[in-house]
Amino acid sequence: MRKYRYGCIGAGGIAIYKHMVGYSKLPSVEICAVCDVSEEALINMKAKYPDIRTYTNHLEMFEKENLDIVSVCTPNKFHKQYTIDAFKAGINVHCEKPIAMNEQEAMEMTEAQYEYGKKLMLGLNNRFTNQASFVREYIKNGGLGDIYYVRCGWRRRRMIPKIGGWFTQKELSGGGPLIDLGVHFIDLTLHFMGYPDPTSVSASTFKKFSHSKCKNLNIPDGLGDFDYNIEDLATGFIRLSNGASVSFEFSFAMNNEKEEYFYELFGDKGGVSFKNGELKIFTEINDTIVDIIPNTNYTKIDVDEFQHFIDVIENKVECLSKPEDGIKMMRIIDATYHSAEMNKEVTF
Ligand SMILES: NC(=O)c1ccc[n+]([C@@H]2O[C@H](COP(=O)([O-])OP(=O)(O)OC[C@H]3O[C@@H](n4cnc5c(N)ncnc54)[C@H](O)[C@@H]3O)[C@@H](O)[C@H]2O)c1
Repeated sequence: MRKYRYGCIGAGGIAIYKHMVGYSKLPSVEICAVCDVSEEALINMKAKYPDIRTYTNHLEMFEKENLDIVSVCTPNKFHKQYTIDAFKAGINVHCEKPIAMNEQEAMEMTEAQYEYGKKLMLGLNNRFTNQASFVREYIKNGGLGDIYYVRCGWRRRRMIPKIGGWFTQKELSGGGPLIDLGVHFIDLTLHFMGYPDPTSVSASTFKKFSHSKCKNLNIPDGLGDFDYNIEDLATGFIRLSNGASVSFEFSFAMNNEKEEYFYELFGDKGGVSFKNGELKIFTEINDTIVDIIPNTNYTKIDVDEFQHFIDVIENKVECLSKPEDGIKMMRIIDATYHSAEMNKEVTF
């Protein structure tokens, strides 16, 4: 049986620790090649996977390698270009989050997958955890009833990724903690609710740490305005077409006690709390409130992200992490930044 020929664009953190590890575990996949603009990143990757071929030009990789699947693991600015170029070369794409820089780009990528008859899946790994599987199933079985309010956030105290590099340059990243961290948990909570349309967003963003002298941040001397032009805190309130609302807080740096990532779903039959990896259910039994702690600490994950994409390509399952959701997520992100800039609510 012919194996799926796999390549990865971008050879940095997420390529090394997630995509290359994930795909190399699948017997149906052959790891063929990696592309990056940095020779150093390619040398580093080749040291881990000596059999791969390396490229600094993705079109050359497409031409020579006859690939079936590529992961796009570059800074966000390049997601659209590489995804559409891959479709044109007849290749399916597993694209890291966020799907793109904005809603317009997300729409172009989504349309292109249909135009070229290829599959696009987003790397929203938080949808593929045991806890997420449990919550999805619990909601499907009616455990929460009508979900009418959600809180979510990821509040780092001092953890700004690659200060001065692409994460803190809006031109390359599209923004700060909202587009980097918010895209995980706002997405997940909307996914649990069946992705209702947003009807309005009211938000504020703040940039308070770009010139911090805090030793825990280690901001390089002479950091220019262009090198750190993202928010370090985004907070907001989303109204949804099903009547529910979502309140969120995402930071790279703020003066809170300690890092915290969480989502809370409040339904009329039950509630879910996920805080720093710990899942709890709050509900009623015999007209009495009870707390339930699901033990999801089993090794078998219900849906493996990498095998799932193979199943999607083979038309065996519907994609759990499809680009249409990415379009709505980017609409919310665009509206959040717009609302913060205009200092008023944005309605759709
Ligand atoms: N799912 C997650 O939890 C998760 C976690 C981290 C990052 N990510 C996403 O993964 C993507 C990459 O993040 P990262 O942490 O690996 O960043 P990184 O900086 O560690 O790696 C990015 C790599 O892309 C390369 N690159 C830069 N410009 C390029 C270009 N034009 N063409 C080809 N390669 C280029 C860089 O040389 C670098 O090797 C981002 O979209 C990020 O949002 C997702």
